[in-house]
Amino acid sequence: MSHPMDPRRRQLLKMLGMIGTGTALSQLMPTMAQSCTDSTYFPPDYPVDCAPPAPKAPPVPFTPYSGPVVDRKSAFTLTSMEVSRLKAAYQALRDLTETNPDDPRGWLHQAAVHCWYCGGGSDGQAGPEIHGSWYFLPWHRAFLYFHERILATLIDDPSFRLPYWDWDRWGLTPSRQMMPPPYSLGGQANSLFDALRGQSPSAQLPPRITGPLITQKVLTQTEYQTFGGGTDNAGQLELLPHNHVHVWSGTDGNTMPNCGTDMGVLATAARDPMFFTHHSNVDRFWDMWLAQSKSNQNPTDPTWSQQSWTFYDENANWVSIQVQDVIHTTHLGYRYDTLATTLPTKVAATPQRITPQIPSTVLVSGRNGIALDPKGTTHAVPLPAPGQNGPLKATKGKLALKITGIHVPLNQSAEVFVFINKPDVNVKTLDAALQTASFAGAIGAVQASLGPEGHHRHARTFDAVVELSEATQQLILKDRKISVTLVPVDAFGRTPVRLNVTYQRIELIRL
Ligand code: C2O
Repeated sequence: MSHPMDPRRRQLLKMLGMIGTGTALSQLMPTMAQSCTDSTYFPPDYPVDCAPPAPKAPPVPFTPYSGPVVDRKSAFTLTSMEVSRLKAAYQALRDLTETNPDDPRGWLHQAAVHCWYCGGGSDGQAGPEIHGSWYFLPWHRAFLYFHERILATLIDDPSFRLPYWDWDRWGLTPSRQMMPPPYSLGGQANSLFDALRGQSPSAQLPPRITGPLITQKVLTQTEYQTFGGGTDNAGQLELLPHNHVHVWSGTDGNTMPNCGTDMGVLATAARDPMFFTHHSNVDRFWDMWLAQSKSNQNPTDPTWSQQSWTFYDENANWVSIQVQDVIHTTHLGYRYDTLATTLPTKVAATPQRITPQIPSTVLVSGRNGIALDPKGTTHAVPLPAPGQNGPLKATKGKLALKITGIHVPLNQSAEVFVFINKPDVNVKTLDAALQTASFAGAIGAVQASLGPEGHHRHARTFDAVVELSEATQQLILKDRKISVTLVPVDAFGRTPVRLNVTYQRIELIRL
């Protein structure tokens, strides 16, 4: 295990900082590395594993925040005083790692907590996985809450709140599609800057990552399971904008098309202060979704609401917090200044819909796994014709696609768009296809670690449930067949160079 402040990393970061403002990683790294563990690419102490937290006492139960409820604002609308305060807070956090490497509240220790909770713990000591399921939203809300309180305490300003990167709000000035300037400008002298990013400050998120159609897809999910995740599946919020912003921010597609750094790898993502402004927006989506419709509801299952995790709080106490403690942001001292987004049409709530009466149908199944072709894979099956097994009558309920046993190697990212009845879609026609009723959603995962699966890292296998919109269901009814096309893309929308994704079954299910 490497020391958290390996002087070589510090030296490298200083060097990168001196090269200048906003220099993209590609300009610094002369040769194309062949492997994601290539030491010519990564700083010498780039973490492969992370140590688990080492609390000195049993956890104490969480008590709700008793201070005032203060707005979290967009990182693009902060006053200059608020920007200075934010930078001072992260400087204090980084300084803490230097002055007291053992303080569990320090910058690198907090990043390690995220690493540990995403299967990255060393020697079989990985924490419970909190990505890819219904724990994704509450765990990250709790993590951000303690992070916010620690920053506020370090600068002795209880009114400090994290800003959010509102990448969903297209068409505003300045463009929300850039990384927020307070985080991207100023080089290493800026405590919010991270040299290990894949994008330059002026790069713009493309519509397939956070465009209005993506926001709409996320907010029109009618079940927590498909929006925020289920017991063994990620929701579209995690799979679409969340994952894709990570991969885009942390992949240098020109020098290292296959490998992420910092934001592009879950094990290191929280080393980049931008992680927290990205996740603040992901957290804002939770409230946006609940505000869409009365029928959008959190799970009521006590398995979910009583799940607990432990974190170090602002006083370095080891605290146990439950999902039910974080359901209301006002109990954590914050709310979002706006839940408005920009969409081409108003997001309509569809509490009860009419869907074709298709029974649950297995579309494809392969016990030993079906390999996803990097150029895309289509599976097609006819549906019963009228008179054969009964007509496709309309019925109440919701149809979804369930993809079971998806395996993404820990050291790869996978971004895979899912289309219905559009077998000819490919990376070139993807953007246009997103605008059609055939666009169903996405599956995939952010690279979890630099190292492969091994004796102390468990394999990553999960399910995905993609809800089919009314328009997609009408399409199936009209075509009387269903085909599923999976289109993988890299961080730059190209056919991935390296992809070893497999899945076991795709079926149509009723929710
Ligand atoms: Cu814990 Cu954005 O990942």
